[in-house]
Amino acid sequence: MLDSNKDYKKITTNTLQEMKNNGEKISMLTAYDYTLAKIVDGAGIDIILVGDSASNVMAGHETTLPITLNEMIYHAASVVRAVDRCLVVVDMPFGSYQGNSLEALSSAIRIMKESGGHSVKLEGGSEIIESIQRILTAGIPVMGHLGLTPQSIYKFGTYTVRAKEEEEAEKLISDAKILEETGCFSIVLEKVPAKLAKRVAESVSIPIIGIGAGADVDGQVLVLHDMLGMTHEFNPRFLRRYLNLYKDITGAVKKYASDVKTKEFPNEKEQY
Ligand code: KIV
Repeated sequence: MLDSNKDYKKITTNTLQEMKNNGEKISMLTAYDYTLAKIVDGAGIDIILVGDSASNVMAGHETTLPITLNEMIYHAASVVRAVDRCLVVVDMPFGSYQGNSLEALSSAIRIMKESGGHSVKLEGGSEIIESIQRILTAGIPVMGHLGLTPQSIYKFGTYTVRAKEEEEAEKLISDAKILEETGCFSIVLEKVPAKLAKRVAESVSIPIIGIGAGADVDGQVLVLHDMLGMTHEFNPRFLRRYLNLYKDITGAVKKYASDVKTKEFPNEKEQY
């Protein structure tokens, strides 16, 4: 029987599998700091992704490539301190797992030990399978990431929709099956045609979490700062903005600046 939106106490990888089995959609958002992670966790989101999008959103880099393992651990530890209920997935940054599987394992162990995160995410399919296997052998849950993989931006040269051609679509489905067989607990599927995403979600039994992958997958993820409208220059079709914080924060900051200049702030009640 469908047991939708059950009040799960703590989300684990088993809970997520249970959700897929029961047809309950999984909600996932990014967070990179304590304050926003506290809000996201308290609001009942299932998974927090400490994404390497922190490279863009928090540090202002053009791509996700520059963020370091130490920086990811710093962000993840801040998020973990805020969380009571969510499963925390931490992105392994570019350069921390591509060299060889031993390097991948030692990076994953650092993330788990130093941040307290609950699992790691790596971009790629068959080409990184040895690294995934070794990390899993150490008892660390792994989330895969297929479709648009931003760490490979210089290989593809563009952030456009992936796997529109059948050959690439077949490779993607085969990679999803390999990730499942290897033991990944879930896969993020980024920016692929909705029909293909549906095929992928039906081809594997683990949860597929989409971003720009349509509605027929097992869950959705967005970058928190994008869906809150704090960023305003990034406008892909898949992004729904739930607030326009760019406008609201700008308004509040302007009002504060003006209040200071005109001596409206602080008033008598706001002093000692
Ligand atoms: O880093 C990130 O925010 C991500 C999401 C886009 C899935 O990987």
